[in-house]
Amino acid sequence: MAIPLDRLPPMVNLSSGPFSGPSLELPGPAVFRVRGGTPLRGTVELSGAKNSALKLMAASLLCEGTLELSAVPAIADVPVMADILRGLGVEVDLDMAANTCRLTAADPQWHAPQDAVTRIRASVSCLGPLVGRVGRARLALPGGDKIGARGIELHLRGLEAMGATIIDRPGEVEVVASHLHGAMITLDFPSVGATENLVMAAVLADGTTVIDNAAREPEIQDLCRMLEAMGAHIDGIGGPTLEIHGVERLHPISWATCPDRIEAGTYAMAAALTGGDVLIERVRPSDLTMPLIKLRAAGVLVEEGGNSLRIKADGLDAVNVVTLPYPGFPTDLQPQMMVLLSQAQGTSRCTENVFESRFSFVEQIARMGADVQIDGHHALIRGPVKLHGAHLQGLDVRAGAAGAMAGLVATGETFVHDVHHVDRGYAGFVPRLQALGADIERLPLASVDG
Ligand code: EPU
Repeated sequence: MAIPLDRLPPMVNLSSGPFSGPSLELPGPAVFRVRGGTPLRGTVELSGAKNSALKLMAASLLCEGTLELSAVPAIADVPVMADILRGLGVEVDLDMAANTCRLTAADPQWHAPQDAVTRIRASVSCLGPLVGRVGRARLALPGGDKIGARGIELHLRGLEAMGATIIDRPGEVEVVASHLHGAMITLDFPSVGATENLVMAAVLADGTTVIDNAAREPEIQDLCRMLEAMGAHIDGIGGPTLEIHGVERLHPISWATCPDRIEAGTYAMAAALTGGDVLIERVRPSDLTMPLIKLRAAGVLVEEGGNSLRIKADGLDAVNVVTLPYPGFPTDLQPQMMVLLSQAQGTSRCTENVFESRFSFVEQIARMGADVQIDGHHALIRGPVKLHGAHLQGLDVRAGAAGAMAGLVATGETFVHDVHHVDRGYAGFVPRLQALGADIERLPLASVDG
């Protein structure tokens, strides 16, 4: 059902505002204070995708000239990635206010400094391009959210198949390859990180590499398309089998990061949860097919435009959700969906298949009164249940955002702690929600009791 255009909410173009971005707004530990009860209304324009931008930055290691990226999100992980690359000898000119990043890897080093590497998971994406370009890489084992074991054996096995030798060191991994050659690689699981690393290693390898059971996430497609524009030959982009024909060298280009589908899904769910009416701009609805199917099944009105989404809801029904690699329902929207389902009529079931510890978030909403029963990797959510304000831990990027969402429909005040996790993945989270009418503030931890 189409929503008449004359009922569109007023435009608030947040992208042109002076976003200083993440935790730069207030120094030191901070919390979100959320007071619930207001349906979100208005327009929100979103950022480039975190999980694309970080890999596009790593891909700069593959070419000699200057790679110019735009739509780089103003999130905390971006300057960390910039630091990692600087440590590898890349000249990085990052302008968070303009959302641009220029990277020149004239003569990259093979050994990254430990501190920044251990802070974000995406640091592991330097492995493939470094081995491909320099023939050697040593990195501390990557950090990131504590949502599961998150091994890298699939990355390493693939590199071995291409002729690399892996040297295990305590807390570090070293990969040496005087010469990478094409190989036939079948991944046990369509791992996002392994697919990206192996593609980046293969673009400069000798001969053809086939990656079967490859991950197909839109951010991987963005990386592959950028590499193609730089001169790489990649067949099968967007499908489960990638065929990469190695080339001698890549040339520098300008590239705009693809929109952040997880950020879009988060605002869509927040809008639906609060019974709101929100227009989301700079989004590719086709990247969100499964989440939109589930929102519609929950009774949400979803109107797709070319690069926008209108979300309107008045009451929610229970639905079942199963997280799977793309095009399945994204694990990165699972905590947000659980909050939504806590307000839906009936019993919903949510099955988590990607990260074994992602249900640790449930304890947070249970403190607010949510009725969720966990059985292994299944959760039963009974709703609707009135949530009450509480102090929550923002355990990871998505859990922190979902905690704030829960606060939007809770009575009293909700305090989300450890919001530096949210800063890692959401640009201007608080001002964007405020512009949609949410009663949310970022406060210094020291000013909050509890
Ligand atoms: N896995 C292994 N061994 C490997 C590789 C993966 O066991 O060698 C397992 C992981 O432990 C996990 C599963 O396979 O259980 C999926 O891991 P995958 O490699 O697909 O994920 P990732 O590359 O570590 C990226 C995103 C995550 C997102 C997942 C799945 C980045 C920096 N991170 O992680 O994003 O959840 O893909 O889509 O791209 C987030 O943004 O909040 C986030 C966690």
